[in-house]
Amino acid sequence: MTPDAGFSETPLPPTSPTILHVEGLCKSFGGRTIIKDVSFNIQEGEFVAVLGPSGAGKTTLFRCMASLIAPSQGRVVVFDTCPRDIKTRKRRQIAVVFQQFNLIGRRSALGNVLAGRLGYVPAWRGLTGHFSRDDRLWALQCLDRVGLLAHSERRADTLSGGQQQRVAIARAIAQRPAIVLADEPVASLDPQTGRSVLDLLRGICENERVAVVCSLHQVHLARAYADRVIGLANGNVVTDVRVAAFDKTSFNRIYGDASGGDLGSVDFAE
Ligand SMILES: Nc1ncnc2c1ncn2[C@@H]1O[C@H](COP(=O)(O)OP(=O)(O)O)[C@@H](O)[C@H]1O
Ligand SMILES: [Mg+2]
Repeated sequence: MTPDAGFSETPLPPTSPTILHVEGLCKSFGGRTIIKDVSFNIQEGEFVAVLGPSGAGKTTLFRCMASLIAPSQGRVVVFDTCPRDIKTRKRRQIAVVFQQFNLIGRRSALGNVLAGRLGYVPAWRGLTGHFSRDDRLWALQCLDRVGLLAHSERRADTLSGGQQQRVAIARAIAQRPAIVLADEPVASLDPQTGRSVLDLLRGICENERVAVVCSLHQVHLARAYADRVIGLANGNVVTDVRVAAFDKTSFNRIYGDASGGDLGSVDFAE
C-alpha cells in the first residue's frame, strides 16, 4: 500500500474533552502542497506521537497547529476558537517546544521561563521585565519541576542542551497551557537526555492532564511514551492508532516497506 492510499485503522472513541481540532488542513508553499487535507482531534491529557520520515511535513503541521503560520485551507481550533482569530493572551493555551530549544541565550533560565508568563501580564510589563512576585515564584516552581532551580540565574547559553530543553519545558509549563506542541524535542539530545525530556513531558501530561503532541524520529520512543500514534507521510495522515495497535503495517504505511524509520529496539509481535 502506498502512503497515500488511506488507512482503515480507527482510533478509539474520545473519552475526554477535545482540546485541539484540526480540520481539512492543507498548507502549500509556492504552489507545492506540503500538508494535504489533514484532520484529527487531540483530547485532554493525551500524549500523541507524530511519526514521519524527514520531509513528511511534521514541522509544517506543527507550525500550523501552533498558529505560527496560516493554513492554506482548513482550520485549527483550540477549544472553540481559531487561535489566529484571538489575541495573543489566549494563545497561551498552546505552548510550543522546539528541537533547537529557542531560548534567549543571554537571558537567565528564570528570565526565559518568565517569558512563558507573557500571555498573562500587560505587554509593557513583559517588555520592561517587570513581573510580579507571584509570577517570579511560579517561574521558580516551574524550574524546580524540571530539576533546574539551582540554575535559575545561569545564562541560558551556558547550559547544556538537555538543560536548555528543560528550561524550554519549564517555560511551556509556566504558561499553564492546555496543550504542548513539541516538534522533535529530543532530536538534538543524546538518548539518555532525550528520555529525561520525554519523562518530563509524559509527567505533565499525566499530572496536569495537559495534552502533548510530540513529533519523534524513533519509533521505540513513540511506543514507550505515547498513548496514540499519528503517522504522516508525504503530507497525508496514513495511520492514526492507539499505541498498542501500532504494528508493522502502521510502520510500513509511514516509512514504506523498504526504507527505514529508526526502529530502535522495537520488535513487533507477529
Ligand atoms: N517555508 C517553506 N517554504 C517552502 N517549502 C517549505 C517551507 N517549509 C517547509 N517546506 C517544505 O515542506 C516539506 C516538509 O517540510 P517539513 O514540514 O519541515 O517536514 P519534516 O518536519 O517532516 O521534516 C519539505 O519538502 C520542505 O522543503
Ligand atoms: Mg521537522
